[in-house]
Amino acid sequence: MKATFIAFDGTTTQVEVDEGESLMQAAITNDVNGIVGECGGSMMCATCHCYIDDAWLEAAGPRNDGEEDMLESATSEVRPQSRLSCQVKMSAELDGIVVRLPETQI
Ligand code: FES
Repeated sequence: MKATFIAFDGTTTQVEVDEGESLMQAAITNDVNGIVGECGGSMMCATCHCYIDDAWLEAAGPRNDGEEDMLESATSEVRPQSRLSCQVKMSAELDGIVVRLPETQI
């Protein structure tokens, strides 16, 4: 399955993502600039903040509770499209998802 990351500067990277793999893991594996993932996906850092493209927002589902709290410490503006990319797991419904990255994570 595929996911496309669009960095703040417009750099677009399309990567292969396995079923069940998080967008954060896929970004790190493929050296996508703009995702840090400091805590390794345990929802303790908010350095994997991303904006889900509107077309995929519903399929990506709602934020979970811990995610909501952690996003409060995100460095960049939190928007309705904001998610922690470590909490978005790839599935057939998300194949082709487009994700934008904030200006900074730290
Ligand atoms: Fe730390 Fe997602 S990687 S919250």
